[in-house]
Amino acid sequence: MLSTRVQDALNEQIKMEGSSSNFYLSMAVWAEENGYAGVSQFLYKHSDEERFHMLKLVKYINERDGKVIVPAFDQPKSDFTSVKQLFEELYQHEVAVTQSIGELVGICLEEKDFTTQNFLQWYVSEQLEEEALAKTVLDKIKLMADDKSAWYHFDRDIAGLTATSIADTSGQ
Ligand code: FEO
Repeated sequence: MLSTRVQDALNEQIKMEGSSSNFYLSMAVWAEENGYAGVSQFLYKHSDEERFHMLKLVKYINERDGKVIVPAFDQPKSDFTSVKQLFEELYQHEVAVTQSIGELVGICLEEKDFTTQNFLQWYVSEQLEEEALAKTVLDKIKLMADDKSAWYHFDRDIAGLTATSIADTSGQ
């Protein structure tokens, strides 16, 4: 049985993961409109992953016989000045999600809900990988600056980049 406090916090996280999915979908659309085919492919995939994160929480609440609130989402921002600015926002967003997961784990510990705390460890690991991925992409963008040939290769290669591939190359 979930405590009301844990259930409310899980529902808040559902909203955050769903909002992230919409936000990255909006980024994907912008990238596609602006000719960055690889970047948009990467972002569409990232948007799907966030929806999966949301659904995993939905299933968990139902499994624990709790009450899921399917949230309304604010319309995400749809305009970006550059791919660099877009990834800066994506990175900051992931940092905020990591913080939110950390707070959720803290609530579980306070409520002595060790089952949910254990379930959330998957998100703790996932956030570590996602932050590393966003940071790696940002670092690459900063290195490329205005090198057109580098941008061509970047857009081609990023389509195949995932959080797991980054973790593999960094030896985690
Ligand atoms: Fe599910 Fe990237 O936060």
